[in-house]
Amino acid sequence: MEESGGCCRCCFSFIFTLGLTALFLWLSLRTSNPTCSIQSFYAPALNQSLKARDNTTIYFLLKLDNGNKDKGIYYDNINLTVSYKTNVTPPIYINNLTIHSFYQGHNKKAKKNQSFVPDARFNWTAANQSVARNESVIFRVDLATAVRFKIIAWKTKRHRLVVGADVEINYEGAKKKKKGIKLSGGPKLLGFYSVQVGILVNLLALLFLNYYW
Ligand SMILES: *[C@@H]1O[C@H](CO)[C@@H](O)[C@H](O)[C@H]1NC(C)=O
Ligand SMILES: *[C@@H]1O[C@H](CO)[C@@H](O)[C@H](O)[C@H]1NC(C)=O
Ligand SMILES: *[C@@H]1O[C@H](CO)[C@@H](O)[C@H](O)[C@H]1NC(C)=O
Ligand SMILES: *[C@@H]1O[C@H](CO)[C@@H](O)[C@H](O)[C@H]1NC(C)=O
Repeated sequence: MEESGGCCRCCFSFIFTLGLTALFLWLSLRTSNPTCSIQSFYAPALNQSLKARDNTTIYFLLKLDNGNKDKGIYYDNINLTVSYKTNVTPPIYINNLTIHSFYQGHNKKAKKNQSFVPDARFNWTAANQSVARNESVIFRVDLATAVRFKIIAWKTKRHRLVVGADVEINYEGAKKKKKGIKLSGGPKLLGFYSVQVGILVNLLALLFLNYYW
């Protein structure tokens, strides 16, 4: 009796230690994707308050925010695809931009100014008519890249990051929303749930171990 009790105790304390180690490992290795957002967007050629609308360059500011407290991020080349749509027309591709790969330290924010001229398919006359009629005029920004996290001196494998957002334009050709527009997509949601599930599994394991201690 005494012997088997001791064995059980030993076995449970082993499992408990294992559980704690797993919890701490998971807590320190857990990573979250950077938050990407459009901070500003301006198409002067769609500004209805301007008489001469001959500057066909479109400007926007992309913010990349590494919210990890102690992990850096290596970004691969970032592909940005811009398309245009209104509430009555399907999206058309208008340009593709690349931000070169770079490294971002933990808790750092990077602001990337972008500018481009839409390709020939873009019909400025039609777009101006839509803006003048106060139709909902939208530039869609899609971002695709892969990131690796730096944990102390070690790099994780690549995680694909595919997100996008609709940027609605106002009467002056600028972003309608005052606040930044967060780019979102499927994989992010999955990451969010896997964190929740991870917490739940760890809590259950600890509760179970405490109950049978
Ligand atoms: C649009 O043009 C007007 C007139 O020049 C200017 O005052 C305004 O700031 C422009 N809008 C934006 C969003 O820059
Ligand atoms: C651009 O749109 C205007 C107005 O909708 C139309 O009259 C014109 O034919 C279009 N141009 C091209 C090249 O499609
Ligand atoms: C569209 O909105 C602008 C500013 O809100 C306003 O000045 C203009 O009269 C509106 N145009 C139409 C056609 O409703
Ligand atoms: C980015 O675009 C290039 C060329 O279009 C392509 O080869 C590459 O695979 C793209 N990267 C991602 C992460 O989508």
